[in-house]
Amino acid sequence: MKIRLQQQKSEVATLIVPILKNDNLPAQLAQVATTYGFNEALLTADFKAAFKETLVLYPQSVTLNVNKVILLGLGEKNGAIEWLTAFRSLTHNQKSKFPAQIGVDLLALENVENYVLESIANGITLGRYNINLYKTDKTDPPVFCTEAAEVSIFTQNTNETAVNRGVATAETQMRIFDLVNAGANHKTPKTLAKWAKKSGKTYDYNVTTYIGRKELEKQNLHAVLAVNAGSPADPAFIVMEYKGEGENLPKIGLVGKGVTFDTGGISIKPSTNMANMKSDMGGAAAVLGTMELVAKLKLPVHLIGIVPSTENCVDGKSTKPSEVFKSYAGKTIEMIDTDAEGRIILADGLAYMCKNFQPDTLIDLATLTGSVIATLGYAAAGLFTNNDELANSLLQTGQQTGEKLWRLPLWDAYKDDLNSDVADVRNFSGKPVAGAITAAKFLEVFTDKHPNWAHLDIAGVAFTDGEFASMKSSTAYGVRLLTAFVESLIKN
Ligand code: BES
Ligand code: ZN
Ligand code: ZN
Repeated sequence: MKIRLQQQKSEVATLIVPILKNDNLPAQLAQVATTYGFNEALLTADFKAAFKETLVLYPQSVTLNVNKVILLGLGEKNGAIEWLTAFRSLTHNQKSKFPAQIGVDLLALENVENYVLESIANGITLGRYNINLYKTDKTDPPVFCTEAAEVSIFTQNTNETAVNRGVATAETQMRIFDLVNAGANHKTPKTLAKWAKKSGKTYDYNVTTYIGRKELEKQNLHAVLAVNAGSPADPAFIVMEYKGEGENLPKIGLVGKGVTFDTGGISIKPSTNMANMKSDMGGAAAVLGTMELVAKLKLPVHLIGIVPSTENCVDGKSTKPSEVFKSYAGKTIEMIDTDAEGRIILADGLAYMCKNFQPDTLIDLATLTGSVIATLGYAAAGLFTNNDELANSLLQTGQQTGEKLWRLPLWDAYKDDLNSDVADVRNFSGKPVAGAITAAKFLEVFTDKHPNWAHLDIAGVAFTDGEFASMKSSTAYGVRLLTAFVESLIKN
């Protein structure tokens, strides 16, 4: 798909006119009414410019060569997430009716900022996403979903970089959608490793992968191996490193939970909704996507990504509750509940990152607990950090990208819940309270007291119900958030 910026309106059969709900609404509608010959009073009565409201109009006038005008409401707020979602939603719903070429008319808006162009490009590109990974019906896709698609954005803002960035972001997000939406037989730890290798080759960053029990043993990744014990699929430990141009780059380490399927292990999960556990690599997906996008955009940062990956399976060889094993950090872990496996593999991921890379900022992401969903629902990820500055910066970035976060405590009052009599730490308190917080306290043990560490529990936001699919599906949560956060650290 091509997206072009044009300072003057040219002929397009279908024209989208975004309308803001502000004091200018009557003037915006009056202009549409006069340009295309509509009754202004009827238009004003029928269209309130609510967020995502659409009104399809068919002008009579042949001189303009526009035969369809779609008014698209933005609502009262007009941040990046509103622009993006309105355009994604419109494209998703109407793409089968779009001709190959559409126009977006921004000429009536006073000041079109770069983020508006980026969000429109991102939203339209994402709106073309097709979730039908394994459908056998291969009827021709709508013309707007083919390579022939073209969008002309009419505006005085000529910043093509913003448009390209919106498209580049969407392309990586869609690759992440595919990865998370893939069923467990189409996505093993090796698949993630291959994905990373290929991405590193394409966008020029370093990827080292350790695959199989032998290679992980050699690396002392005992905790990952403990979770992997019952799985017929090889575990993988993926280490990615991207270094942009320049001196004195901010150094950021990202660690993502890559459980490609979580049965719970011997502490087996109930069967209801277990299929959703194909998304238990949502943290890994956020890290993989951010690595790719930051490298693609060539941001001047030093970014390291680590993904410990395994299935969590039920088998005679599976690690059982009560077993004690070592971790990369040397600390021993007592397995109380095999369904609390994410924190165990992250223990090795975090320790490996701290020991080998010493990043200035350390962030991990994981679909870690049902408890965070009980606490925050599907609207926000849980944010845990002892660093107020890092907390505020992440909270603010989340507001900006629409990937919301809410801070929860990491007080030592919760620490004793994880004391074990026989080992250094146990993986579950045994109590049905404060589960997301105690999980974060477990991770803290393996961060080597890093002063600038944050943990994001994304269990409720990585894979959700929404308007773009009929079942739960991937949101690629974290890709835009982390990319914007990484960018905010760039020293001018
Ligand atoms: N992968 C799950 C958490 C999860 C639940 C993610 C629902 C997405 C949706 C995790 O491994 C898990 O099972 N956590 C347990 C921990 C408990 C046994 C201490 C949980 O939260 O119930
Ligand atoms: Zn689990
Ligand atoms: Zn899990």
